[in-house]
Amino acid sequence: MTELLPATPENIAHAAKILHQGGLVAFPTETVYGLGANALNEQAARNIFTAKGRPTADPLIVHLSGVEQLPLVAHSVPQAAYQLMQRFWPGPLTLLLPKQPTVPDLVTSGLETVAVRVPAHPVALALLRQSGLPLAAPSANRFGHTSPTTAQHVWHDLRGRIDLILDGGPTTIGVESTVLDLSTSPARILRPGGVTREMLEAVIGPVTVLGQKRKAEPGLPSPGLLEKHYAPRAEMILFTGEHARQALQTYVAEQAHTRKIGALAADEEAEMLERTGALVYRLGSDLESIARHIYAGMRWLDSQGVEVIVCRDFGESGLGLAVRDRLTRAAGKVIRST
Ligand code: TXA
Ligand code: MG
Repeated sequence: MTELLPATPENIAHAAKILHQGGLVAFPTETVYGLGANALNEQAARNIFTAKGRPTADPLIVHLSGVEQLPLVAHSVPQAAYQLMQRFWPGPLTLLLPKQPTVPDLVTSGLETVAVRVPAHPVALALLRQSGLPLAAPSANRFGHTSPTTAQHVWHDLRGRIDLILDGGPTTIGVESTVLDLSTSPARILRPGGVTREMLEAVIGPVTVLGQKRKAEPGLPSPGLLEKHYAPRAEMILFTGEHARQALQTYVAEQAHTRKIGALAADEEAEMLERTGALVYRLGSDLESIARHIYAGMRWLDSQGVEVIVCRDFGESGLGLAVRDRLTRAAGKVIRST
């Protein structure tokens, strides 16, 4: 049985007890909801993989209440890491650091590094402090689904499979943390997220971004060529390139009378797409708002039974890079128009 409870101090204390007994608790962070377990308890960590249906080759992020807990899980921390922690913790930045032997190999999928972050959310921090445990917590969704930004999303994916969901309302950032590898020079972003490349570079100088596995071919749709992840149920098409917006509108105009089309749209293009015949989910008008609503939008359009979800690229500056990464992974097809 899964409990769904508001994140009151009493319920947070209840959650801490469950974690000490090796149970699974979903809780809000500033990015997305996490599915937490005691990171130092191998069986508890194993239960995370089972509940999510996640392959054990995909390592978990360990959440800490503060830098003072770092020695529990990591060692040989480089100077650049301390600079970044000071600037961005608590916050959406995950650092890969050499792991302590006390962290079960299962948590890191056998890697010598452990991914760590301190979340900037009062409920997450209260739970970490109350329990006193480092918490392994991937996003609280079934493997392959979009990450949950509300407690209801978690309920939809994991009810009956975990002990408790703490409801702390919708998350504010809406895309996951930035995962940064400091073992290379320059440091390398493995997953763009809430802390942008520009913000990192202001502190430690140039960083590179790991490219996505396969790119769209210019001028051609590239069905099935992209690593699919974070995906809605409906077929998803991403329009990129200079004329993306026009190409998206033309596509909707051509298809809307034969298929039920959903669109994730910035406010400025929402009305035009509605008139053209799409069911529109409004993402807002700036990148912060777009990032915050992107996953909820995919889930909502799925719930409305659309056959296709269309969206355009929002550039690569600031949070645009993280949004592009998630849209590209969600899309089965990318249409580039230059
Ligand atoms: O914002 C977030 O990061 C959320 C909240 C709950 O904190 N968590 C999250 O966890 O997104 P998850 O498990 O869905 O994504 C963790 C990512 C995966 O892409 C995983 O491969 C990578 O971090 N990762 C974890 N440990 C790693 C390691 N030692 N080396 C390389 N990548 C690692
Ligand atoms: Mg995830």
